[in-house]
Amino acid sequence: MENHDEHYTKQEQQQVVVITGCSTGGIGNALARAFAADKCLVVATARSLSSMSDLDYDNPNFHLEELDVLSDQSVTNVVSNVLEKFGRIDVLVNNAGVQCVAPLAEIPLSELQHTFDTNVFGTIRMVQAVVPHMASRKKGRIVNIGSVIALGAGPWSGAYSGSKAALHSLTDTLRLELGPLGIDVINVVPGAIKSNIGNAAISNYSRMPEWKLYKPFEEAIRKRAYFSQNSKSTPSEEFAKKVVAAVLKKNPPAWFSFGQFSTIMAIMYHLPIFIKDFLLRKAMKC
Ligand SMILES: NC(=O)c1ccc[n+]([C@@H]2O[C@H](COP(=O)([O-])OP(=O)(O)OC[C@H]3O[C@@H](n4cnc5c(N)ncnc54)[C@H](OP(=O)(O)O)[C@@H]3O)[C@@H](O)[C@H]2O)c1
Repeated sequence: MENHDEHYTKQEQQQVVVITGCSTGGIGNALARAFAADKCLVVATARSLSSMSDLDYDNPNFHLEELDVLSDQSVTNVVSNVLEKFGRIDVLVNNAGVQCVAPLAEIPLSELQHTFDTNVFGTIRMVQAVVPHMASRKKGRIVNIGSVIALGAGPWSGAYSGSKAALHSLTDTLRLELGPLGIDVINVVPGAIKSNIGNAAISNYSRMPEWKLYKPFEEAIRKRAYFSQNSKSTPSEEFAKKVVAAVLKKNPPAWFSFGQFSTIMAIMYHLPIFIKDFLLRKAMKC
């Protein structure tokens, strides 16, 4: 049996990886498993411990914490608990996110704000909480989970694509600002990956009012919630393995995109607007 000192030494060599939004069935959960399989010590977090009940409490490569990216208190508590327990954070993965479908002309501003609060401000809240520690070690990696949707924003998901476009832009700035402090910043840009994102978006959709001008588009709007969830969506395990390999490289890439539609969306980004609009109108029945 290993004694306390041996266990401590093993922990010292392990990369400590903090991940937000690790609920069962989602990308964060798959990332937690993939980092743990690559011998990292994973601090898997979610709004409630019960949503990560599939992650093994007894596995020494996992440490589970409740964390809500909307709460200063929750973020501060978790970061200080982790530093107290493990002494360092090597990698932060900002994965927590919400999809939101609604036409921009009628979306309640509170829903637009909630989307940006989670996807954009929640990420920056995490970044601000870990940077002082990473800067003191002149070492660390921050991974922001963006989206290919930011490369070709279409109808019905303006809140979401706008939040991801903002996140991509902030990630570019962070990479340049944190570089001199010894911190690498990686924009991970998923294509369509199997997860709970469609169901979560539809359950939030029940908070929307009845549309006035967009009632005829109701079906297309609801369908948009599940656009990334089709029979050919990339399995989250496959996606997570690729991400972990990229993030743990000696020299990690600034941008890593993978998954169904990632190549199409990269091409879409460079198309003339009239072609882009033509394709998106057709696809989104607008
Ligand atoms: N799936 C795709 O095709 C796709 C494509 C591009 C980008 N992405 C991005 O990938 C990331 C993961 O999404 P997913 O597809 O795995 O969706 P998901 O299955 O719905 O997972 C989202 C995770 O974020 C958590 N979350 C939401 N609000 C939170 C908050 N305030 N504090 C902490 N955690 C919160 C959710 O927790 P609860 O379970 O408590 O709600 C859940 O664990 C998101 O940033 C998403 O935008 C996904």
